[in-house]
Amino acid sequence: MYNDIDLDAVDLTIDAPETEPDRQYYFMAKARKMIQELAAKKGRNLTFYVKTFGCQMNARDSEKLVGILEKVGYVPSDSEEADFVIYNTCTVRENANNKVYGRLGYLNGFKKKNKEMLIALCGCMMQETEVVEKIKTSYRFVDLIFGTHNIYKFAELLVNALESDKMVIDVWKDTDKIVEDLPEERKYSFKSGVNIMFGCNNFCSYCIVPYVRGRERSREPKDIINEIENLVKDGVVEVMLLGQNVNSYGKNLENPVTFAELLKEIDAIEGLERIRFMTPHPKDLSDELIEVMKHSKKICKHIHLPLQSGSTKLLKAMNRQYTKEQYLALVDKIRKEIPDVALTTDIIVGFPGETEEDFLDTMDVVQKAEYDSAFTFIYSKRSGTPAAKMENQIPEDVVKDRFDRLLKQVQTIAAKKAERLTGKVEKVLVEEINEQDAHLVTGRLANNSVVHLPGNKDMIGKIYNVCLKECKGFYYLGETVE
Ligand code: 5AD
Ligand code: SF4
Repeated sequence: MYNDIDLDAVDLTIDAPETEPDRQYYFMAKARKMIQELAAKKGRNLTFYVKTFGCQMNARDSEKLVGILEKVGYVPSDSEEADFVIYNTCTVRENANNKVYGRLGYLNGFKKKNKEMLIALCGCMMQETEVVEKIKTSYRFVDLIFGTHNIYKFAELLVNALESDKMVIDVWKDTDKIVEDLPEERKYSFKSGVNIMFGCNNFCSYCIVPYVRGRERSREPKDIINEIENLVKDGVVEVMLLGQNVNSYGKNLENPVTFAELLKEIDAIEGLERIRFMTPHPKDLSDELIEVMKHSKKICKHIHLPLQSGSTKLLKAMNRQYTKEQYLALVDKIRKEIPDVALTTDIIVGFPGETEEDFLDTMDVVQKAEYDSAFTFIYSKRSGTPAAKMENQIPEDVVKDRFDRLLKQVQTIAAKKAERLTGKVEKVLVEEINEQDAHLVTGRLANNSVVHLPGNKDMIGKIYNVCLKECKGFYYLGETVE
C-alpha cells in the first residue's frame, strides 16, 4: 500500500527503476528533493492549485494529482496565483474547451509576475491533437501537457518539467496499463470515488469519450476491494464506483466478473455504509443488478440512467442500442422491483436530424419515466465523432426553444417527485457546513437529494435520521430525530 512508502528510503544515486509503481516512487523522491531545494531558495513553501473541469472521473484523477503534489512537498493554495497550476480538462462539450482557453490567458498574467511558475494541462482535451497544436503555437507559456492514459506518470512528468525549460508533452493514444498503489488526497474525508474501470467501447455517435479515454479496461476485483477496505479504515463511509459504462465491468478480465457480482462483494465490506455507482448504460442493465440493488441495504436506491433521446430514430443515429420502448420497459421493471428508487438521467437536445416529433418523444419519456432530476444538454458538435459529419444540424433558435421546454418539464416533474418525501424520516449523510448559514449543515439522502438541517461540524461524515420538514423544490429543510 502506498501509505507505507518511505521516500527517504529511495536511493536517488541509482537509475530510476523500470517497473511501476516503484518508478514513480523514485520520481516522487526526486521531485521532493527538488521542491525542498527550491523552497529553501525562496524561503517559503511552494504552492499548488488544481482546477478540475468535467465529470467525476476527472475529479478522481485530480485527487491522485493532489496526492502526489502533497507527497512531494507542495502546499495547497486557494487561488491560481500559485507556483504550480494544473488544469484537468474536459472536452465532452465545446464550451468546456472554451473555458480552458479563456482561463489560460488569465494564468499567464500570474506567470509574468512569478517567472518560475509551472503551468500544466492534462485530461481529456489534451488527447486531441488539434488542441495540443493550438497550445504549442498560441499558449507557449504552458510547461507541461499530458493526457488521460499516463496520469499515473505524473511524478515523473513533474520532474521532467522542473528540469526542462521547454514545454514537456507526453500524450498517449491508448493504454492497457492500470497502475495501482499511488498516493491520493481526497477532497472529502468520508466519501470517495473509486474507479472500477476506465475507457468506453460504446462509441455513441455524438461522444468524444471513447476517443479520449480509450478502450474499456476493468480493474481486478481484489484491487477494488482492497482500495475500498483501506478507504473505510481511513474513515470513508460512502463510495461512488466510477466507470463510463459500469454494466460492462469485468467482461474483459482474465476471470470475468459481472458488475452485480462486484457489488455483492463490496456490499459485504464492514464499516462501509453507502454505495453509489455511475454510469450504467440502459442497453445492458441486467436483472442481476436490479436484484442485487433490491436486496442491499448499502447500495443507494438511485440509478442514473442516461436517456439521451426518447426517439427510437435518433437513438439509432446516436448508436445507443435501445429503443424508446425498451428504455421505458426497463424503467417499469426497475420501478416494479425497487419502488422507492430515484431515477435521474442525461438528455441531449438538438442532435442532428431531430424533428419536433423526435423531440416530443423525448418529452414523452420524461413524462412517463418521472425523473427525480435530469441533466439536459444542448448537442455540441465534437469533431472526430460520426455525428459531427451528419447533415441536418439543427438551427440554434430551434434547439434553444426545445431546450427551454424540456427544462421546464424536467423541473416541474422533479419538484412534484421531491414533494413526496416531505414529512418522511430519511437517512442523511452530513457532508459540510452550509455555505450560506453556518448554523446549518448540508447532507444528502440515499437518492442524492440535498438536505439542509441545523447542526455543527462534528456531524460531518456521519449519517443521521432526519425528518424532511419542508421541500423547497430542489432541496429539503430538515431536522434530526432520534
Ligand atoms: N453534446 C452534448 N452533450 C453531450 N454529452 C456527451 N457528448 C455530448 C455532446 N457532443 C452528454 C451526454 C452524456 C453526458 C455526460 O454528456 O448526455 O451522458
Ligand atoms: Fe460517451 Fe456513450 Fe461511452 Fe457514455 S457510453 S462515455 S455517452 S460513448
